[in-house]
Amino acid sequence: MAERRGSFGDQPQHLLYESKAGGYTALRKALFDMKPVDLTNEVKTSGLRGRGGAGFATGVKWSFINRDAPGPKYVVVNADESEPGTAKDRYILENSPHMVVEGILIAAYAVGANQAWVYIRGEYDEPSRMLTEAIDEARAKGYIGPQPMGKDYPLDIRLYRGHGAYICGEETALLESLEGKRAQPRSRPPFPAVKGAWGRPTLLNNVETLATVPWIINNGGAAYAKLGTDKSPGTRLLTVSGNVRKPGVYEVEIGQTFRHVIMELAGGPPEGRKVKVFWPGGSSAPVLPESMLDVTTDAEALAAARSMAGSGGVIVMDDTHCVVRAAHRLLKFYAYESCGKCTPCRVGGDWAVRTYERILANQGSQVELDTLQRVSDGLQNGRCLCGLGDSAGWVIDSTLRHFREEYEDHALRHECNVGAVPANA
Ligand SMILES: Cc1cc2nc3c(=O)[nH]c(=O)nc-3n(C[C@H](O)[C@H](O)[C@H](O)COP(=O)(O)O)c2cc1C
Repeated sequence: MAERRGSFGDQPQHLLYESKAGGYTALRKALFDMKPVDLTNEVKTSGLRGRGGAGFATGVKWSFINRDAPGPKYVVVNADESEPGTAKDRYILENSPHMVVEGILIAAYAVGANQAWVYIRGEYDEPSRMLTEAIDEARAKGYIGPQPMGKDYPLDIRLYRGHGAYICGEETALLESLEGKRAQPRSRPPFPAVKGAWGRPTLLNNVETLATVPWIINNGGAAYAKLGTDKSPGTRLLTVSGNVRKPGVYEVEIGQTFRHVIMELAGGPPEGRKVKVFWPGGSSAPVLPESMLDVTTDAEALAAARSMAGSGGVIVMDDTHCVVRAAHRLLKFYAYESCGKCTPCRVGGDWAVRTYERILANQGSQVELDTLQRVSDGLQNGRCLCGLGDSAGWVIDSTLRHFREEYEDHALRHECNVGAVPANA
């Protein structure tokens, strides 16, 4: 067997997953002891919310698929993981791919699909290899096929390598790409549950979301709901990156503070440095300043703080960094990754980048500050076809809100005070 970075060594993955983690017992239970509607209800009871970014209630999403409608239905797994600062799906795929396979099979059975597709980020060679092996092993064991575990209900999973653009992770652009077209978002409605892949009802879920399902089926939705907070139950994987001593993927019970995650789990900033700002849910989530480290990781607390849990990517910047430059860098990313289909995003991103460039070249004034705010407003609140535009707007808006003085230093006084921080401050 080829060398791998995951934790399975030379043994077939399924053996370890089965012997150590009770693997595929949830699938057996789902196929033989439960009705599809019970599965959906169990996931509803768990309160699980999607881990891909939008945080939509998973069981409710499953219930949108009309299981009894004639014709094919699909499960599509979002393994694109294109959000900057997020690497938790990769971690799951490299370390426990069978958990994902089992979750996919249960979801497919619950919503009446026989075919699942995993749309996996093009650059994810190792996760693709691990998942392919897991699927092959599950097929060899008879868990995937015309009669999984002897049940007369065909189930199949296939992989599709993504096309290397951020927009490919947006669910409707992903579906376009899966169909072999250019990845651009569709206007909604209709939503994928009604008209998804190849125009058929489609359940689209994130890797981590589906990897959570076997535990819920084995232990019951009520047991899952006891973890975390009332409205954001369970645990989630947070990818902590940036200026911390121990960057990595950490599983936390939802409701812990970011102070715990950043300062304790990830070891805090380097010696002598202070946290200045952090992105609590990937680069798309509005930033929070150091004074808000005690905000908790649940969606409700983050919404109250005018941010979001997003994809769970916690990006930390210390006091050696200039927020205006960081925002400029991110806007360059969003402008570059804009698919160009809708005007506010196509035009707004470039406009913001040009405005930042004037500010950073010491050619700024109050006009540039007002322009940034106006462009930010024009990108948000449903004005764009998908969330990419909102994300670009939130970077501007949240950095302006929390770091107004730093912007004014640049735009009005033509100076950057971050450089003034002594090396050992
Ligand atoms: C620009 C953009 C990129 C996205 N990238 C991803 C991604 O890489 N992975 C992901 O699971 N969700 C991504 N999403 C969110 C998906 O559109 C969708 O909400 C999610 O996959 C649904 O699964 P869930 O309900 O299990 O969270 C992205 C959204 C936008 C607007």
